[in-house]
Amino acid sequence: MREVPKDAEAKSHALALRAGLLFMASAGIYSYLPLGFAVLKKIEEIIRKHMNKAGACELFMSALQPIDIWQKTGRDKILEEVMIRFRDRRGRELCLGPTHEEMITEIVKKNVFSYRQLPLILYQIQTKFRDEPRPRFGLLRTCEFIMKDAYSFDATQEGLNVNYQKMLGAYQDIFKECGLNFIMTEADSGAMGGSLSHEFLVPAEIGEDMLYFCTKCNAYYKKEGKCPKCGTALLTKSMIEIGHIFQLGVKYSLAQGALFLDQEGKRQPAIMGCYGIGVSRLLPAIIETNSDDKGIIWPRGVSPFDATMVVVGDALLQEALALAHTLEKSGLTILVDERIESAGVKFNDALLLGSPYTIVIGKNYTASGKIEVEARKTREKVTLSPEELINFFNNERERNA
Ligand SMILES: Nc1ncnc2c1ncn2[C@@H]1O[C@H](COP(=O)(O)OP(=O)(O)OP(=O)(O)O)[C@@H](O)[C@H]1O
Ligand SMILES: [Mg+2]
Ligand SMILES: [Zn+2]
Repeated sequence: MREVPKDAEAKSHALALRAGLLFMASAGIYSYLPLGFAVLKKIEEIIRKHMNKAGACELFMSALQPIDIWQKTGRDKILEEVMIRFRDRRGRELCLGPTHEEMITEIVKKNVFSYRQLPLILYQIQTKFRDEPRPRFGLLRTCEFIMKDAYSFDATQEGLNVNYQKMLGAYQDIFKECGLNFIMTEADSGAMGGSLSHEFLVPAEIGEDMLYFCTKCNAYYKKEGKCPKCGTALLTKSMIEIGHIFQLGVKYSLAQGALFLDQEGKRQPAIMGCYGIGVSRLLPAIIETNSDDKGIIWPRGVSPFDATMVVVGDALLQEALALAHTLEKSGLTILVDERIESAGVKFNDALLLGSPYTIVIGKNYTASGKIEVEARKTREKVTLSPEELINFFNNERERNA
């Protein structure tokens, strides 16, 4: 889209709509179009890589959940307003899962009987449903969103501490690779009912959480009041919550009877932790903090393409495609803009879509054999031969490995 859509409520929302990442069906209800879905899959890949490396196992739970498992913990009442709940034609009371602590606890209760089966970390990347009072800012707060939720089960508190630290480390690696400049704070665990908890936040205007910032110490604080270190007055900063981890303890395992036999043969409740990432919320968080007036600037890790190739005029299309294939053989992913559009339109769209590089196959390519490459972030240009272009990207890759 050339124009900023009227219903866009934030910079990231406008860019996501203009770049064709999303389709808004209604407030808080979105479909992912091919480019948006491609970025989402890159983010999911990063999450899977670090979760698996930390020893977590992926599973996939049903979105439909029977209400009776929620009655065991009393959270059918606590989450009554956000829960999308209904009765099916056979009279079963069901909900579309707003989260999965109760479901995972049922699964572990029916499958884990001995300390020998512990510790265990299970995770999924799945759609959650919440009847949010104020869905807004594109994918920031929606009624249907994608979450990565992980759950750990341990025989001892020491075991939980180990798993908690593993997840905390994995989260730092995930957010770094997604190009997010995040802050980590210790937080209240509120409705989750446990003790220790950490929040991961990204400073951005549209954020709905608040932290206090000391410009002198370059540090964030949870509480207002002068800076505890230097006494300077603190600034308020809006933050986007991108992830939250909790030590749950035995609240769910006790309520639902998820017991295991310990080394002495005594029945004990499993000690749990839970670890969430707002996977779809990472898109607006990344775009808010990685964009300029021309469009999105995808961090390398989440960009579906290494470069967008702009072909000027259709006479050179075959040569351009041949070059793109050569680049793809060396492991690069190239988006070729083969539309019949003016060079200006294609070049502006390449800036809007935000691949780290734009490769321009200009009118004099056949005569000169030269290609122009522009970095999206710095807008620095270099002119290269096809062989030099391959080396250029190989060097780039090594630099960022
Ligand atoms: N309505 C939503 N739309 C998109 N992402 C969400 C939404 N609600 C929560 N998330 C994301 O899922 C993660 C884990 O969910 P959790 O239940 O801990 O969130 P929450 O405490 O309800 O978040 P919030 O305070 O933003 O409502 C959050 O850290 C956030 O990134
Ligand atoms: Mg919430
Ligand atoms: Zn200070």
